Amino acid sequence: MRAWQVHENGDPATALRLSEDVEKPTPNQDQILLRVRACALNFPDALLVQGRYQERPPLPFTPGIELCGEVADPGTSGLTVGDRVVGGASLPHGALADYALADPRLLYPAPPELDDTKAAAFFVAYQTGWVGLHTRAHLRPGETLLVHAAAGGVGSAAIQLGKAAGARVVGVAGGPEKVRIARELGADEVIDRLAYPAQEDFVAALKEACGKRGADVVYDPVGGNAFAASTKVVAFEGRIVIVGFTSGDMAKAATNHALVKNYSVVGLHWGLYRSRRPEVVHEAASALAELAAKGAIDPYVSQVLPLDRAVEGLTALAGGATTGRVVIVP
Ligand SMILES: NC(=O)c1ccc[n+]([C@@H]2O[C@H](COP(=O)([O-])OP(=O)(O)OC[C@H]3O[C@@H](n4cnc5c(N)ncnc54)[C@H](OP(=O)(O)O)[C@@H]3O)[C@@H](O)[C@H]2O)c1
Repeated sequence: MRAWQVHENGDPATALRLSEDVEKPTPNQDQILLRVRACALNFPDALLVQGRYQERPPLPFTPGIELCGEVADPGTSGLTVGDRVVGGASLPHGALADYALADPRLLYPAPPELDDTKAAAFFVAYQTGWVGLHTRAHLRPGETLLVHAAAGGVGSAAIQLGKAAGARVVGVAGGPEKVRIARELGADEVIDRLAYPAQEDFVAALKEACGKRGADVVYDPVGGNAFAASTKVVAFEGRIVIVGFTSGDMAKAATNHALVKNYSVVGLHWGLYRSRRPEVVHEAASALAELAAKGAIDPYVSQVLPLDRAVEGLTALAGGATTGRVVIVP
């Protein structure tokens, strides 16, 4: 089979190699074999290739943490050959390949209303958004939700989930095209961060957009200046959810500021819920399936590329040049 492999960590353009004659992976007793129908790229895929992610799969490994697949060998899982499923792939045998391995306990039926490319993008960003906004931040109807990198992968899902929860959503995005996309995804107002190079102007624009009370919940995949600005605009009893650091800057929280303003800085590591509280992931999966069936959430796939162009997609994603989701189809 074909598979992208990392033999030595580095940037995607140099570290990834497409091999045509890799052996199909063999599942252990806790895994099943999936034929990959589509793999949605995630920022962590780039970090994994670079060796900068919290997990470090043994070399050589195939990245691709999220997929829509078809059961090829169900083992003892109770699934049937041909079942169409979504979920996470088990590294080192990720989904940037013709076949991948997965833990069947972390797979869900692919929503029938979504085609393969959208279904591939239905798992990580929406699960992260659901657990971040509901389990961690307790977002309530009528609250204001501020979403950074709002036209990106997790950001686009957070806009839709915020609207579905009855929140007013303010987005932040880099450049007019991303602003347009975030608006189309349902954000009530969107700030172009590039239009405010001075931090105090950025903060003033956010304050105006979020209104007098400020942002009750902030969803922050960016860190750095985005986090610093969030602390200025967060509401009394607000919650800032730390989702990631795409800016490359892991901002430090000032605990004295959190104290005097009565806000919380809430960490979010969705992946840990799969082993520590799988019931939360299952509840989120049911809620998300219902929202998809109603059409309240609908993954925004901006680009579909063939397997041999995966590096192009990953490089663009790591450089902040993509919107929504980039999906690779073998
Ligand atoms: N906590 C969790 O459990 C969890 C789960 C999944 C993903 N994540 C994290 O969520 C983050 C977003 O992942 P994603 O796949 O959805 O990526 P993404 O948001 O589609 O892409 C990154 C976006 O970040 C913004 N950005 C700002 N400064 C940047 C910079 N210096 N370089 C690159 N991008 C920059 C850009 O949007 P603008 O130009 O519009 O600002 C860019 O489009 C990642 O850090 C990922 O690790 C966390």
